[in-house]
Amino acid sequence: MVKILTIIGARPQIIKAAALSRAIKNKYSKKIKEVIVHTGQHYDENMSQVFFDELDIPHPDYNLNAGSGMHGKQTAFMIESIEEVLLKEKPNCIVVYGDTNSTLAGAIAASKIHVPVIHVEAGLRSFNKSMPEEINRIMCDHVSTLLFSPTKAGVGNLVKEGFEKNNKGPYSIDNPKVYHCGDVMYDNSLYFSSIADKTSSVLKENGLEDGRYILATIHRNNNTDEPVRLNALFRAMNKIARNNKIKIIIPLHPRTEKLLSHNLTPELYSLIKTSDYIKILPPVSFIEMIALEKHAQLVMTDSGGVQKEAFFFKKPCIILRSETEWVELVKSKSAIVVDADESKILKAYNYFLKAKKLNFPSLFGDGKAAEFICDEILRNIK
Ligand code: UD1
Ligand code: UDP
Repeated sequence: MVKILTIIGARPQIIKAAALSRAIKNKYSKKIKEVIVHTGQHYDENMSQVFFDELDIPHPDYNLNAGSGMHGKQTAFMIESIEEVLLKEKPNCIVVYGDTNSTLAGAIAASKIHVPVIHVEAGLRSFNKSMPEEINRIMCDHVSTLLFSPTKAGVGNLVKEGFEKNNKGPYSIDNPKVYHCGDVMYDNSLYFSSIADKTSSVLKENGLEDGRYILATIHRNNNTDEPVRLNALFRAMNKIARNNKIKIIIPLHPRTEKLLSHNLTPELYSLIKTSDYIKILPPVSFIEMIALEKHAQLVMTDSGGVQKEAFFFKKPCIILRSETEWVELVKSKSAIVVDADESKILKAYNYFLKAKKLNFPSLFGDGKAAEFICDEILRNIK
């Protein structure tokens, strides 16, 4: 039996980890024992518990209750607490997802006491180190033993940073293994797609018609915290909605919700709040989100996960950032990077309105990335 310690904390990690927990439950329960540690980075019911209920993730064995805070304080608390759990549980490895502070804390705590780190979603780079996530990804990759990259570009980035592609085992922090393995988020989107259609009433509840609304999310710190950028994003959305008489539905991250009235001009804030077209919702569940993505005309987002899910469901995406680590989406021309630039956002929307046929090549595996990861853990972690 291999004992893995899974670190989750922020919304997207809870969702990603669901794919592995599902694979373990269905196929590897006699070979892999999973201990789940929730750092508590996200804690609101609609940012955490809802996903456990809906995605059938086992109840966490530990909740560290880290909560919100400055990067140093939050990460340091998590490192200290994860170290204690590692010493008690003595797992064969730790599994961390993505690029949040919880990911970094897990990677640092484990690597320093010689517990092999498995990084799911390795190798992604935005080449923008002003993003906290970019620092987290780079640091985590460089202390990992097994690195699972969902994209070829991710593998290429690691090779450029000195990782070898064809090295032989046994693998360790000094002889790490890089895999190109597909995306656990694609596993989830395939698995939950028909369930979402059968069970979600989110479209009906919000008076939305198939293909007749835009789905938007905004939570990236430079967008929420910089008033010039936040105003530009909401001005653009307001213009698109009004000019095209199209609804824009925005399940809003609590970070953004808390800053909206403070950082938008009073005029724009009032326009948005009273708009017939723009509807702000609290964060929705994953099943509701999938239903909204599947039936949207188009997606506008600064989220990493949501831009990919738009692609999985063959929807054009306007990326509200200055760059993306998911470069394949932009290369396929189904997504456009516009930054927080009002005129670029309007131009991209008009482009997609007229675009005849968009291209969504199969880039993210076969829906079995989680099984691949489990097999490789069993093969390489003793
Ligand atoms: C974090 C990740 C980001 C990821 C995002 C997913 C880091 C550095 N950032 O950003 O990569 O894309 O999660 O959603 O790890 N808050 C609540 N309730 C909650 C959680 C957060 O109100 O349950 C509010 C708090 O005011 C908090 C703020 O959101 O200060 C930011 O939360 P935090 O976890 O620090 O960063 P995110 O912006 O969520
Ligand atoms: N998501 C969700 N409800 C929402 C917004 C997002 O379930 O209201 C899901 C979304 O479908 C995706 C993941 O959360 O699977 C993306 O997380 P987020 O945008 O918070 O972070 P990022 O991917 O940018 O790190």
